[in-house]
Amino acid sequence: MEQVLHQINDYKKEIAAFTSIDDKSVEEFRIKWLGTKGIVKAIMGEMKNVPIEKKKEFGQILNDFKLFVENKYESLKDTISNQQPAPDSYRDSDKSDLTLPGDTMPLGSHHPVTLMKNRIVSIFQRLGFAVAEGPEIEDDWHNFGALNLPLHHPARDLQDTFYVQQNPDFLLRTHTSNVQIREMEKGKLPIRMIMPGRVYRNETVSARSHCFFHQVEGLYIDENVSFADLKQTLYFFVKEMYGKDVKVRFRPSYFPFTEPSAEMDISCFICGGEGCAICKKTGWVEILGCGMVHPNVLQNCGINPGKYTGFAFGMGIERPAMLKYGINDIRMFSENDVRFLKQFTSVI
Ligand code: DAH
Repeated sequence: MEQVLHQINDYKKEIAAFTSIDDKSVEEFRIKWLGTKGIVKAIMGEMKNVPIEKKKEFGQILNDFKLFVENKYESLKDTISNQQPAPDSYRDSDKSDLTLPGDTMPLGSHHPVTLMKNRIVSIFQRLGFAVAEGPEIEDDWHNFGALNLPLHHPARDLQDTFYVQQNPDFLLRTHTSNVQIREMEKGKLPIRMIMPGRVYRNETVSARSHCFFHQVEGLYIDENVSFADLKQTLYFFVKEMYGKDVKVRFRPSYFPFTEPSAEMDISCFICGGEGCAICKKTGWVEILGCGMVHPNVLQNCGINPGKYTGFAFGMGIERPAMLKYGINDIRMFSENDVRFLKQFTSVI
């Protein structure tokens, strides 16, 4: 028995000095000391050789030893698990409380001009119009010359156009009609396109006008395109956009790039045609300019006006957006006030 006690003391020293570096060495420790063929089990077997009067005392010593080994094993396991890399989310999910409410994701919103543009564009897309875009910094030819705007035309007036100071051949486009020219120049016919974009005019900024705003231009060129096609296309647009009951009227007008030209009004959708502040008591609201593409414009773009005809139209985006969302100051669109923009979060 004396010998066994010595042995236990030696074992304790060995165990106390033992350190583990990984799971594997902890497991080896367990097998060596606590396994079914381990040292603790073996030493317990010594009980049978102990005289009966010493059994109690010896049993206590053996139990203490076993406890000593077990405590060591537990502390080795703890040290190793604290060294482990953070548990991956899969294992972590064991501890997650799946009944907790989720975190709400902050939602952004579309800008009201984008919302209105998307509405307009999607109606024409359903008629088979494809979307095209063009440059905002444009040369004189694409913004004016090719569009049959003679040199003396008032739209070229310095008051309206922002020219690039270093090179007055370049300017900020005053309308999206430049994209018409760029698309026609490509020479791929027929053309059925819708062209949204930002335009610039040198105007005093006020609640009703701004030095930049947005337009959507439309262009359809093919053989035998007529004014009736133009009217039918715009009727469809108005019904989809403003509702079945809205009335439409065309007024003769003048644009250098179309002949004949017209402006299209719709019955005021605020007062239903009765007359209010929005329609200036007339019962009508002007929404776009349009016409048959001038033969000079076709020629300027290398298209034979004897064979092809086409219609074009252009409309602003800000004004219908102001009417639809009840915005009474155009400057709100470009102030980037989040309190304003946030109001459109739920609109798509
Ligand atoms: N470009 C014109 C403007 O900015 C709008 C316009 C009118 C475009 C008639 C057209 C059109 O294509 O045919 O006021």
